Amino acid sequence: MKKTVSTFQNAKQSGEKLTMLTAYDYSTAKLIDEAGIDSILVGDSLGNVILGYEDTISVTMEDMIHHGAAVARGAKDALVVVDMPFMSYQTSVYDAVVNAGRLMKEGRAGAVKLEGGASVCPQIKAITDAGIPVVAHLGLTPQSINAFGGYKVQGKSEAAAKQLIEDALAVQEAGAFAVVLECVPSKLAAMITEKLDIPTIGIGAGNACDGQVLVYQDMLGMFTDYVPKFVKQFADVGNVMKEAFAAYKKEVADGTFPAEEHGYKIDDDVIEKLY
Ligand code: KIV
Repeated sequence: MKKTVSTFQNAKQSGEKLTMLTAYDYSTAKLIDEAGIDSILVGDSLGNVILGYEDTISVTMEDMIHHGAAVARGAKDALVVVDMPFMSYQTSVYDAVVNAGRLMKEGRAGAVKLEGGASVCPQIKAITDAGIPVVAHLGLTPQSINAFGGYKVQGKSEAAAKQLIEDALAVQEAGAFAVVLECVPSKLAAMITEKLDIPTIGIGAGNACDGQVLVYQDMLGMFTDYVPKFVKQFADVGNVMKEAFAAYKKEVADGTFPAEEHGYKIDDDVIEKLY
């Protein structure tokens, strides 16, 4: 069944946990969708895991549209959420609405996600008013990595925790239908989850959140440049891939691949006439 914003609202009310995974291409989206995951996030983490950047800062609107549309073609039921890249919404409310519109029209997003609290509430309200569902993102917001001075757990002091609670209430008030909490202490995330009427989706925020999200290359052991503490590796796909690549190299080298069954036939008399 097609998952929508209502799926998120119903899950918050019923207590059923929401599942979200990232994807950046058609084939992976199709597998995730077929596994019954509620939502696929086309994260700007594609800057790291697909494009090999050190951070998400250089990701463009064109990148997000390109990968969003590919994922949307593979996602039959899952709600596709596409990240708004750095500087596509911070600059003005107008830019935010125009770019969210492009992600929906050209990138086939079912919803967009943007980072920040009270400071981006005018953008959240305007995008929502334009009929585009918004997921907010609080805690460790990677687009602000230069302001944070590194990938650090957020909300640990009393003042920072209060600020996070206020931001969560503010993005809800502005119209966000869900909020991602990244690298937030579990007890604080539990408190925010209890205070909000919209679902919280945690990543490094404990299991009291209404749902969870992971980058798929992290949970499959396919991206090992750095592995955050919150990642659980559910399968060792990275090593399975490496073994398969090495087996292919060996079989090509020793002539066992391709075998006869991998080739196409032609009548012998046709071949004879060519001599
Ligand atoms: O870009 C991304 O993949 C994200 C998740 C880590 C929540 O924002």
